[in-house]
Amino acid sequence: MLQCRAERGVARWKGLASVLTRIDHVGIACRDLAAKVVFYESVFGLTVVSMETNEEQGVKEAMLAVTEGAPQPGVSYVQLLEPLGPDTPVGRFIARRGEGVHHVGYGVTDIAAALASVETAGVRLIDSRPRHGSLGASIAFLHPGDIGGVLTEFVQSSHDSAGTNPGISN
Ligand code: CO
Repeated sequence: MLQCRAERGVARWKGLASVLTRIDHVGIACRDLAAKVVFYESVFGLTVVSMETNEEQGVKEAMLAVTEGAPQPGVSYVQLLEPLGPDTPVGRFIARRGEGVHHVGYGVTDIAAALASVETAGVRLIDSRPRHGSLGASIAFLHPGDIGGVLTEFVQSSHDSAGTNPGISN
């Protein structure tokens, strides 16, 4: 019975393009970025491809490529996030829930179209327009309350842009 329902579900969505193209990164909140970078490098053999401070989001962050060899287009990342202070989104997250998984970032090919699509489906947007993310990407967050408690981020990487203008606003 369950299988029949699942098959009908698959049939229903067949032919529609997927909004999500890949898992771009998992965002992990931590108290000490330098220590966590050393941990992920030494235990999992990951490589840091960028470290930056994003004042707008109140974080210091490192992107570590999950791949063999040099990062390629379409590669996925671990994104380690240390809050710049207690009164920031990640600072409040750690105070409430401790260190751990903070959000999931999914790749999209056209972030404006992806935002419009999920908003039509009834998902609230935290960012109604894309903004600047790591590695030159355009990013936007969706409301976790409409996605089973998962803070969800769309990422249109500089590799994915396909000539479209994501219309970033600062
Ligand atoms: Co992220």
